[in-house]
Amino acid sequence: MMEKNSNHYFSKFPDVNVKIHTISESLRRHLYIFKTITGVFSFNKIDLGTKVFIENMDIPIESKVFLDLGCGYGSIGIVLSYESPQSSVYLLDINKRAIWCTRENVRLNLQDRKKSIFILSGNYFEPLKNKDLKFDGIYMNPPLRQGRKEFLKLLYEIPGYLKTNGSFQFVIKKKMGAAYILKYFKDTFPDEYIEVLCKRSGYWVFRCFH
Ligand SMILES: C[S@@+](CC[C@H](N)C(=O)[O-])C[C@H]1O[C@@H](n2cnc3c(N)ncnc32)[C@H](O)[C@@H]1O
Repeated sequence: MMEKNSNHYFSKFPDVNVKIHTISESLRRHLYIFKTITGVFSFNKIDLGTKVFIENMDIPIESKVFLDLGCGYGSIGIVLSYESPQSSVYLLDINKRAIWCTRENVRLNLQDRKKSIFILSGNYFEPLKNKDLKFDGIYMNPPLRQGRKEFLKLLYEIPGYLKTNGSFQFVIKKKMGAAYILKYFKDTFPDEYIEVLCKRSGYWVFRCFH
C-alpha cells in the first residue's frame, strides 16, 4: 500500500514515473559517475549541500567503519570508501529507489571494493538493531524539508551508534537554520563537542560528539 507523501524523495516507494539520469561529478579531485532516478533526492544534479559536505567532511584514512545515513544515490558513502580504501562503509536509506541507485553506483565507481560496502534499506537505525555495530563516523545530509524536528530527535540516538572518539558529521543550509541547530546542540548537549568545519555557499558543515 502506498504511504502518505508518496511522491517525496524520502518516501519508501516514491509515486512518480521512473526515468534514469546519469550525473558525472568531480569530488575531491576524482571523477564519479552516478546513476539516479526520479523520486530520489536531487536526481538531476548533485545537491550543492552534498557537494560542499563531501569537499569538506573529515575522512580518516586508517581502517574505520563509516555510515552514510540517508544515503540517497550513495555519493557521500561512495566518496568515503574511495578516499579511505581500508574502511568499511554502510549506506542506508528508506527510499527503495535510492537503494537501487546506490547498488548501481557502488558497482560503477567502486568495482574492487564490494566486500567492504554494506547497503541497507529501512528507517534510520532500524536495520542496524540487533547487529551490535558502532561507527567511527556517521555522515549525513539530513532531510529537512518537513522541518527540523525529526533531525533533532535523531541527535539523541546518534551517540548510541558511535564508537569512543567517533564523530557525527552533517551539513545544514544556513537558511534552514544552521545557527539554530548549533545553538540547540550546545544547549542540549553542553558536555559534548561540536565544531563548524566550514561555512561555504550558504551551507555549514558540522562535526560533533568526538
Ligand atoms: C537530503 S537527502 C540526502 C541524500 C544523499 N545523502 C545526498 O546527499 O544526496 C536525505 C535522504 O534521507 C533519506 N531519509 C529520509 N527519511 C529517512 C529515514 N527515516 N530513514 C532513512 N533514510 C531516510 C531520504 O530518502 C533521502 O535520500
